[in-house]
Amino acid sequence: MKKVLSVILLLVLVLSSAVIGVSAKDDGADLCFALASDLHYNPPREELEHTINDPVFWYANRRCAMEDESGFIIDEFLNQCAEDDTVEYVLISGDLADNGRTYPEDHRAVAEKLKAFEEKTGKSVFVINGNHDASIESNTTFDVFKEIYADFGYDKAIEKRDDDCSYTADLGEKYRLIALDSNHPTKSTEDGMTLDKINWVHKQDKIAYDDGRYPIVMMHHNLLDHLPIQRIISRNFIVRFHYSTAELFADWGIKLVMTGHEHCSDTSSFTSALGNKIYDVTTTSLTMYPLAYRYFTFNDEEIEFTTRNIESIDVDALTSTVKGFTDEQINWMNEDLTSYSKQFLKVGVEYRLWRSLNMNKTDIDENAVYYDVVATAIDRLLEILETTFEGENGIRAQALAYGIEMPATEFENGWDLVSEIMAYHYSGGEHFDLYGDEISLLLRTVAFILRNDLETVNDDVLLKGANALLKKEGFDGISKELTQFCIYHFGTYTAAEYLLVAIACPIIYKFAYDDGSPMDIDGVMEGYGTVSFANNMHNIADNASTVSQKVNFYANAVTRILLKLALKILNYKIF
Ligand SMILES: [Fe+2]
Ligand SMILES: [Fe+2]
Repeated sequence: MKKVLSVILLLVLVLSSAVIGVSAKDDGADLCFALASDLHYNPPREELEHTINDPVFWYANRRCAMEDESGFIIDEFLNQCAEDDTVEYVLISGDLADNGRTYPEDHRAVAEKLKAFEEKTGKSVFVINGNHDASIESNTTFDVFKEIYADFGYDKAIEKRDDDCSYTADLGEKYRLIALDSNHPTKSTEDGMTLDKINWVHKQDKIAYDDGRYPIVMMHHNLLDHLPIQRIISRNFIVRFHYSTAELFADWGIKLVMTGHEHCSDTSSFTSALGNKIYDVTTTSLTMYPLAYRYFTFNDEEIEFTTRNIESIDVDALTSTVKGFTDEQINWMNEDLTSYSKQFLKVGVEYRLWRSLNMNKTDIDENAVYYDVVATAIDRLLEILETTFEGENGIRAQALAYGIEMPATEFENGWDLVSEIMAYHYSGGEHFDLYGDEISLLLRTVAFILRNDLETVNDDVLLKGANALLKKEGFDGISKELTQFCIYHFGTYTAAEYLLVAIACPIIYKFAYDDGSPMDIDGVMEGYGTVSFANNMHNIADNASTVSQKVNFYANAVTRILLKLALKILNYKIF
């Protein structure tokens, strides 16, 4: 089972973002604002440097963030918010400066842009800190953060917390923003939710309702899962005790929480036992593909949001500030910034996964008995990911030897497929056709990797018996022959693969086809004025059927596969 580690590792990696009163609101809207998240501002370098072995995107990075371009993307975002008269406010849900904890001057550069925007338009900006922004041990302490961003929320605060960066402020005539600092005071990515903060939200929520205002929460960490079982596979990106926190927030009358941090665009909902529904709309990083932000409008009946994209930046200003851009890069950026940012991301994803698939990152002791086995598995995995799908020795031809038929594809190799799926995740577009070629290609590639990988495992419990039998027959150890032997007797899958596929398929399937409600890119949800006994009863019924559908899905997927396995083993023993 040691090689299983490498497969699980891959899965985790795969699975592993107006002058007030002068503005002209959308028709019938009580409130209208733009929200961007995870700006990750980096000061532009004087000159680009080679970091990655890629003919075009040699200056990309493992975080996939467009660092040198970030300031120019932020400028364009603010320009769009200035030009749209319906946008009353700009909200930013954390990670304003990439190295903001260490360099307060990077925050000052962002604050300068925000100040110029406020002065030019008269529209107010509201920020909250993310994990990159401040900590009690860094140069940017909470007090320094609040001082630098004093004009962007803290100046209009009704209440402020002394121990962190949380505050409340009014938005328009009917709403109140609860900007909650969800960060750990020292740790780099994990959340810092405490009972004290939750109690503070409860108090602010009551005050808001007493003042006749609806509370909206903005915080950096996710409240709800935006990946299947996110609390397990990406736990530092979601608040601890997330279901109980969501239960409380929902029953306190909070309908909308706006978050960032995970760098994906996604919407999830949760219904409390009393039938109160809460939504977590998370927004991807503004400065990575697809360079997106949200546009929200509110009225009592509906909260509506759309996703907007930065489709061009001032390339002349960028290239006169940063030296080293090639003509090919400049032309591509000018012609199609979206596809430029997508390819930049795909190259970065590949680089990151490649770096992660390294024995130094696995924490496995060099003297451990299974060190060599895992090291070999990782080498094989990298080799397979780099192999083209098509061609004489391509994945398609190799997989066929194991009885696996691959659909025709335009993806070049495994890296291309994996990075495309990651790009879908970041952009919020992971709604693949369930019966489409991408899903088949992904699942069959995983099946091929498993089969090919397991071929060299010689301490796998499930295959030991067959190994002994083969040895008796004159074969030496687990080998290609053993795998072929198992295929001959068990059919398409071996016993070990059945177990793995039973675990992997539902996760991959759910990842690629996330059924999160309602829409990830554009959506409409019930407004704050729709809460009633009848609606809550309706929500409770809806929730019961959704939960039972999910339980059915997982139970069916696992039992169906295990049943098939049992029948095949039985068949093998009888005949
Ligand atoms: Fe971030
Ligand atoms: Fe973050």
